[in-house]
Amino acid sequence: MNPKNIPKLESEVIDQVSIRRKGTQEEWQVDVRKASIGPDSIDIRSFYSDSKMFTWDPGFTSTASCTSAITYIDGAKGQLLYRGYPIEQLAAHSDYMETCYLLLYGSLPNPEEKQQFVDDITNHTLIHTQLEIFYRGFMRGAHPMAIMNGVVGALSAFYHDSTDINDPEQRRLAAHRMIAKMPTIAAYAFQYANGMAFPAPKNKYSYAENLLQMMFSVKSEKYEMNPKIVKAIDRFLILHADHEQNASTSTVRLAASSGANPFACIAAGIASLWGPAHGGANEAVLRMLNEIGNKKNITKYVDKAKDKKDPFRLMGFGHRVYKNFDPRANVMRDSAYEILEELGINDPRMELAMELEQIALKDDYFVEKNLYPNVDFYSGIILSAIGLPTNMFTPMFAVGRTVGWLAHWKEMFTDPDSKIGRPRQIYVGETERDYVPMKDRGHTNRPLLFTKFWQR
Ligand code: ACO
Repeated sequence: MNPKNIPKLESEVIDQVSIRRKGTQEEWQVDVRKASIGPDSIDIRSFYSDSKMFTWDPGFTSTASCTSAITYIDGAKGQLLYRGYPIEQLAAHSDYMETCYLLLYGSLPNPEEKQQFVDDITNHTLIHTQLEIFYRGFMRGAHPMAIMNGVVGALSAFYHDSTDINDPEQRRLAAHRMIAKMPTIAAYAFQYANGMAFPAPKNKYSYAENLLQMMFSVKSEKYEMNPKIVKAIDRFLILHADHEQNASTSTVRLAASSGANPFACIAAGIASLWGPAHGGANEAVLRMLNEIGNKKNITKYVDKAKDKKDPFRLMGFGHRVYKNFDPRANVMRDSAYEILEELGINDPRMELAMELEQIALKDDYFVEKNLYPNVDFYSGIILSAIGLPTNMFTPMFAVGRTVGWLAHWKEMFTDPDSKIGRPRQIYVGETERDYVPMKDRGHTNRPLLFTKFWQR
């Protein structure tokens, strides 16, 4: 393993930008830092101390929070590169273990490096029997993301030896353990809901095979592996492996910036991923397709999505970064067709999805706002075809994304500019005022409706 493969996290200063405050005529110079591809950034680190002003950027739409050499996205081109390699090439030729190695260690492994990595991951797939007991604390109907969040967070209590994050060997061990145990943890969340025993991971199986056998095998029967399903799941994991500074990855980075336990940081990422605007969208897409039900209802739902007074959105459409197409969605659509054909399933939701895509892509609202199907639009069809309920879709995403979270966590330790994350705010609340004693606050004779304080 050659650490030299990983580029230094340095960005060269190539220019300056002047910022001038019109009212006071004050002017500040800020450096422009070069990216290897994509937009350069202005370095505003000293802007507050120089100007006594903050910069305001809710949702970080214009703000780079770190320097990174892992994943590059060009939203306009619909390009996604892991360590420089196009996602389409990785989806076609690589496998998930190799992609994990690439994301973590910066280059494609040679045969020995790959074998060593696979062997090490394989050796850590079991979970402590005490952790298995932990599952019993959950209701059988609990959402598997809630279970995963709890169980992954609980791992921090199991591996004291992995909590010295200043030791590179312990960081490696924690990361390899987390990647290895995620399929086991996700599969057990599913088996627990079904009231089934927890099948042990088997060392003869690949990562995707193990995930499948732990989810679907039953004690009384031999599990028959379908290579096309294995391939589709492996590809699903590759497509979800990383996506630079998205909400969950930024959450992991922010949690980790305080020096928190790595397993707890990954649990924070799982929580962030769960929301329907992020990883929860795959589940929301299937719920939406079920709700639309029939092609004749599509126009009604497209109109609802366009109505600003209606909170409904077309799930699986739109992306913060991709404004042309999501390259992962194209691969996922082809994969969905392959799986439906292989399994001989005629899922009317696939036809509905295709029709919805066509109608939305021609609609002025979606065209003007550059809203295209994202990776989640088709992933649910595949997962549903192989027999997973909708509430297992986001856990599957979490399994794939774990390596991305860990690659970013690892990278933070090599970044000389890494600091505890601590955003600023524009304070618009009350200015200083004196405390009013209770006796001087008046009275009310109506019951208090707290809900009104919680409205948007
Ligand atoms: N349906 C209808 N209108 C939409 C949709 C949608 N799916 N997505 C965006 N819009 C509209 C917004 O209302 C907004 O309109 P406005 O300019 O008139 O206010 C405009 O398009 C821009 O949308 P924003 O929400 O400002 O874009 P942002 O980058 O913040 O959000 C997001 C991106 C969250 C993905 C959004 O498109 C969305 O909610 N999509 C549906 C959920 C989804 O599929 N999420 C999965 C994302 S992929 C992933 O996480 C793996």
